[in-house]
Amino acid sequence: MSVASSASQMISDPRFPGAKLHESAYVDEGASIGSGTRIWHFVHILPDVSIGRDCVLGQNVMIGPHVSVGDNCKIQNNVALYQGVRLEDDVFCGPSCVFTNVNNPRAFVERKNEFRATLVKKGASIGANATIVCGHTIGAYAFIAAGAVVTSDVPDYALMVGVPARRKGWVSRTGELLGPDLVCPRTGETYRETAGGNLEVFAAK
Ligand SMILES: CC(C)(COP(=O)(O)OP(=O)(O)OC[C@H]1O[C@@H](n2cnc3c(N)ncnc32)[C@H](O)[C@@H]1OP(=O)(O)O)[C@@H](O)C(=O)NCCC(=O)NCCS
Repeated sequence: MSVASSASQMISDPRFPGAKLHESAYVDEGASIGSGTRIWHFVHILPDVSIGRDCVLGQNVMIGPHVSVGDNCKIQNNVALYQGVRLEDDVFCGPSCVFTNVNNPRAFVERKNEFRATLVKKGASIGANATIVCGHTIGAYAFIAAGAVVTSDVPDYALMVGVPARRKGWVSRTGELLGPDLVCPRTGETYRETAGGNLEVFAAK
């Protein structure tokens, strides 16, 4: 099948005005999808999911029940957002990154009342194949490197690398690595470290 004919199978669903869905996607009852959002092949959206405006959900994405996705999020191929995950606006989930919602699963023990929440704050990016162990918050504009395993809360603007993920530096709102001057090389925006060891915007552009 050519790319052109595949794209032409994007359809409008009267339940979701302004959104486009590939004909192979399934959307269960009670879901809401914002205008401008595009949903690609073989996506499954379970009941009572909320997806904001202008998002893109790539091939094979699964959004579990009651999950909330903000505006302008990009969720790449093969990502599953299990119940308990919440994405704020402008979040990027790289291909095949992994979320979890049970800390100590056993096939033969029921733990449906023990889901741990995961919050990904505004503007954060998660690299390809990274794993987010449940029960943690990823701070605003944080950057999780490809293949990292997050096992603790992540501060705003932190660049987290490795297994387990450790903070290797700071990144700007636009995802540029900050040098010792804490000036974004792309925008000129400046940042400063707080007494508590976190990063905040000092002078916005
Ligand atoms: C973390 C990241 C942003 C760093 O990029 P960068 O600033 O260009 O870094 P460099 O490639 O110069 O690497 C700097 C160092 O970090 C290491 N490093 C880079 N990425 C790493 C990763 N994902 N895990 C572990 N170490 C990593 C490099 O080996 C190098 O180590 P060294 O200083 O000992 O030689 C990038 O490597 C990354 O993981 N991007 C995510 C890509 C992705 O998943 N995209 C999804 C959409 S397609």
